[in-house]
Amino acid sequence: MRLLAIPLFAGLAAAENGLAAWLRYAPLSGAQHFHNSLPSHIVALNSTLGSPVYTAGQELQNGIQSIYGKQCDVHQGHWDAASSLVVGTIDQYKKAYGSLSINPDLTGDGYWLSTEGSTVQILGQNERGALYGAFQYLSMIAQGNFTRVAYASNPDAPIRWTNEWDNLDGSIERGFAGNSIFFANGVVVSNLTRVSEYARILASIGINGVVVNNVNANASLLRPGNIQGLGRIADAMRPYGVQIGVSLFFSSPTSAVQGQANLTTFDPIDESVVSWWANVTDQIYEAVPDMAGYLVKANSEGQPGPLTYNRTLAQGANLFAKALQPHGGVVMFRAFVYNQLNESDWKADRANAAVDFFKPLDGEFDDNVVIQIKYGPIDFQVREPASPLFANIPQSNTAIELQVTQEYLGQQCHLVYLPPLWKTILDFDMRVDNEPSLVRNIVSGQRFKKALGGYAGVVNVGTNETWIGSHLAMSNLYAYGRLAWDPTSDPTSILQDWIRLTFNADPSVINTITQMSLESWPAYENYSGNLGEQTLTDILYTHFGPNPQTQDNTAWGQWTRADHNMIGMDRTVSNGTGNSGQYPPAVATDYENIATTPDNLLLWFHHVNYTTVLKSGVSVIQDFYNQHYAGAATAQTFLSQWQLLQGKIDDERFTDQLYRQSYQAGHALVWRDAIVNFYHNLSGIADKEGRVGNHPYRIEAEDMELEGYVKYAVSPFEAASNAMAIVTSTNTTAGTASYTLTCGTGTYDLAVNYFDQIGGNASYVMSLNNKTVGEWTANFRPWIGNSEGPRVLGHTPSIYLDGHSAIRVTFGNVSVTKGDVLKIVGTPDRIEKAPLDYISLLPVGVVD
Ligand SMILES: *[C@@H]1O[C@H](CO)[C@@H](O)[C@H](O)[C@H]1NC(C)=O
Ligand SMILES: *[C@@H]1O[C@H](CO)[C@@H](O)[C@H](O)[C@H]1NC(C)=O
Ligand SMILES: *[C@@H]1O[C@H](CO)[C@@H](O)[C@H](O)[C@H]1NC(C)=O
Ligand SMILES: *[C@@H]1O[C@H](CO)[C@@H](O)[C@H](O)[C@H]1NC(C)=O
Ligand SMILES: *[C@@H]1O[C@H](CO)[C@@H](O)[C@H](O)[C@H]1NC(C)=O
Ligand SMILES: *[C@@H]1O[C@H](CO)[C@@H](O)[C@H](O)[C@H]1NC(C)=O
Ligand SMILES: *[C@@H]1O[C@H](CO)[C@@H](O)[C@H](O)[C@H]1NC(C)=O
Ligand SMILES: *[C@@H]1O[C@H](CO)[C@@H](O)[C@H](O)[C@H]1NC(C)=O
Ligand SMILES: *[C@@H]1O[C@H](CO)[C@@H](O)[C@H](O)[C@H]1NC(C)=O
Ligand SMILES: *[C@@H]1O[C@H](CO)[C@@H](O)[C@H](O)[C@H]1NC(C)=O
Ligand SMILES: *[C@@H]1O[C@H](CO)[C@@H](O)[C@H](O)[C@H]1NC(C)=O
Ligand SMILES: *[C@@H]1O[C@H](CO)[C@@H](O)[C@H](O)[C@H]1NC(C)=O
Repeated sequence: MRLLAIPLFAGLAAAENGLAAWLRYAPLSGAQHFHNSLPSHIVALNSTLGSPVYTAGQELQNGIQSIYGKQCDVHQGHWDAASSLVVGTIDQYKKAYGSLSINPDLTGDGYWLSTEGSTVQILGQNERGALYGAFQYLSMIAQGNFTRVAYASNPDAPIRWTNEWDNLDGSIERGFAGNSIFFANGVVVSNLTRVSEYARILASIGINGVVVNNVNANASLLRPGNIQGLGRIADAMRPYGVQIGVSLFFSSPTSAVQGQANLTTFDPIDESVVSWWANVTDQIYEAVPDMAGYLVKANSEGQPGPLTYNRTLAQGANLFAKALQPHGGVVMFRAFVYNQLNESDWKADRANAAVDFFKPLDGEFDDNVVIQIKYGPIDFQVREPASPLFANIPQSNTAIELQVTQEYLGQQCHLVYLPPLWKTILDFDMRVDNEPSLVRNIVSGQRFKKALGGYAGVVNVGTNETWIGSHLAMSNLYAYGRLAWDPTSDPTSILQDWIRLTFNADPSVINTITQMSLESWPAYENYSGNLGEQTLTDILYTHFGPNPQTQDNTAWGQWTRADHNMIGMDRTVSNGTGNSGQYPPAVATDYENIATTPDNLLLWFHHVNYTTVLKSGVSVIQDFYNQHYAGAATAQTFLSQWQLLQGKIDDERFTDQLYRQSYQAGHALVWRDAIVNFYHNLSGIADKEGRVGNHPYRIEAEDMELEGYVKYAVSPFEAASNAMAIVTSTNTTAGTASYTLTCGTGTYDLAVNYFDQIGGNASYVMSLNNKTVGEWTANFRPWIGNSEGPRVLGHTPSIYLDGHSAIRVTFGNVSVTKGDVLKIVGTPDRIEKAPLDYISLLPVGVVD
């Protein structure tokens, strides 16, 4: 151990940028004491380089070496099993050793893991299963867990895929962590190292398929050169048992794809179209013999589809199903189909669309079609009821679409641990025919006895070493795989495995990250949109910061129907859109009535007065105020909790996350203030606790003495304190805002709220009596104390002064004397005119 310490430590340090994710195989202290509990030899029952069993042998060797400093040989084929670890398939084992004394009950991709007796056995139903078992064994020993085990583990569902929303030009739709690892400049990248590394990460959590390109697809994927490129991607992922799938553009036959025939129609029942797709499918299978299948978004959000020709969605799906059938592939057909709607129609409801479109077609889909259903009826909101479609197509295969990408949930700049949200859907009982009908048992195929089904998780990995932009957000990817394998597992224990593997087993590290993570979704719900009112973000622009008025008066149908007296969508059968009636009767009755609708979905299903009293005893509007204050207050504690981990984890990741928690603490206040001000303005009802609109610690920038700065009315008004900000008069000359302080002499935290627009890097200097107390630049790098974060934030930027660009920087422990002159000099840069909203002088520990 001593001899190996230096190289091992060097390897560890290099990996702490996050690239190794939870597969760091960090050396454990006292490792040598466990050498006798570890195998001396590894027997991998397939010697072919690139086979998952061969990969498993290498992975086990590297892991045991790295964690415990024990060198094991890897033998291929038969070898004395005693004091060995044997990894392979059940069949390979029987062939090598003649017989197997146990007969584990394994289904596709399942494994048997035994550490009892003198041999560790890791035996898969197939090679992929053997690799999964190897990763499970490594996960145990990397956590120092030498519990003797002997058990079979099978996945709950056969489809456990990710959906990458990568475009061929290298951009990623809702990507917050750099560009695509798969594509650049219209083609597949030449260096696929990151793709292999990604496959390894996915295999370690049981993911068996990756749809590599965006659901908003492009026909040029089907150029012969790109089909060859898909072959290279598949080759890079195959050693980890990960199959690829591709998203198709429905009208490709008429898209003039270079190298393919060009038709005049894409009508799904036209013979020329049928043979065009058969031809293209054959070409893909030549390059990717084990392609998993297609993902199709049709007649959705402007995409072409079968409805263009008056054909049914089933005819559209079956077109691809028939082309794939000879090759064993499946079609994932997205249920996200809806039309634009008119809000003046009280009965119009986007939430009804999926059932309206798909229920009549139940029974018409081919056996290899899987209907891929977003977890809720709208679109990945902070809280939704389970999509009623899960209960309405019992003759069809279904999969649930979850989103690891935090599109509406803080874009990886806010900590939101998602499994508790996912569990509200997976564990929801639809009570179809008054029988237990949990969503997870519907998508696994058990409830309606379907052969196919499972999970599609939207993931936005990019070229950043952190994979998805934030170290802590990776717990969502880890948990996605674990839940797709076993949706009954507990989100807390999954999280704690991830913490031990990603950081270490220090109880304070485990307790702190557990507490922050478990409080994170409730906090985000509270300061974005509670009571089932959806994430009140800007649905027309970034999907990031607050902007509640964008929900209404649009054709997108994410309405709140808020006016001066009432708020919420009336989805009742009796007086509303009838959406509650799309659920089976036992559920429908609950949602139909206010008394039996849970408070957290009240505004989803009912149009009520702001004064309506909740089950908790407070009014709707007061609950809005209370929860927004509570959620934002919780977000402040994430920063202080994280600060406790200094020195307990590596500095690099500690510092990265510190910046993000600091950013979140500030942006949570932006959210809180925007939402409460908006509804206070609309309802005219005062906050009983006197908080809303009352900020005793703030100096509004527009109230300062201005030189070279002018007042600026921010739109939407609620994105700025008092609706006003200041900007420099020109974009070439610095401006100065000064204020003679009237507060008492003492020590304060100075918090400055400003705006960070894309398209300029304005800079600021704040001083007290001409003595600098802080300097910063508005360039998407979060600030804390007096230094700039190493990583950019990565959320969708804004060119405006609004709730997305609003940001806070805090300078702590500043000594202030009554009568001091506080001054900020802002230097504009291009479009960014050094905007300022307000400065808070906070007695230490106070949040305004
Ligand atoms: C070993 O792996 C190769 C490549 O995956 C495969 O073709 C072969 O059938 C495997 N051999 C055995 C004995 O299973
Ligand atoms: C060790 O691993 C086994 C098998 O996964 C698990 O049941 C047990 O809870 C683990 N022990 C600890 C202390 O984590
Ligand atoms: C390929 O990419 C990997 C990971 O980004 C990098 O380490 C390696 O140097 C690249 N190889 C080449 C030949 O550019
Ligand atoms: C497909 O990509 C090309 C560029 O390669 C672009 O011109 C075209 O608009 C894209 N089509 C769609 C439907 O996005
Ligand atoms: C498939 O299409 C290509 C390109 O149009 C053509 O060259 C080829 O002959 C077709 N193959 C079959 C089997 O139809
Ligand atoms: C393909 O067809 C479209 C219209 O159907 C036409 O505009 C285009 O020029 C054709 N392209 C080729 C390469 O034939
Ligand atoms: C689709 O059907 C509608 C009504 O039946 C008809 O008016 C329309 O012309 C049809 N469109 C096409 C492309 O066949
Ligand atoms: C019933 O619907 C109408 C619109 O048709 C709406 O104005 C009214 O507020 C609703 N009544 C209740 C009790 O929700
Ligand atoms: C809303 O308040 C009005 C006036 O107090 C009352 O008549 C009405 O019944 C209330 N509506 C609901 C849905 O509570
Ligand atoms: C700050 O500097 C300016 C310009 O140099 C000067 O006019 C002013 O008196 C100084 N203020 C204080 C409080 O020292
Ligand atoms: C990391 O992600 C950020 C945000 O998307 C991006 O601007 C940056 O270029 C990325 N860095 C790398 C090395 O990919
Ligand atoms: C300054 O702002 C104006 C208008 O806002 C813009 O047209 C101009 O390009 C900006 N100048 C620079 C150097 O970016």
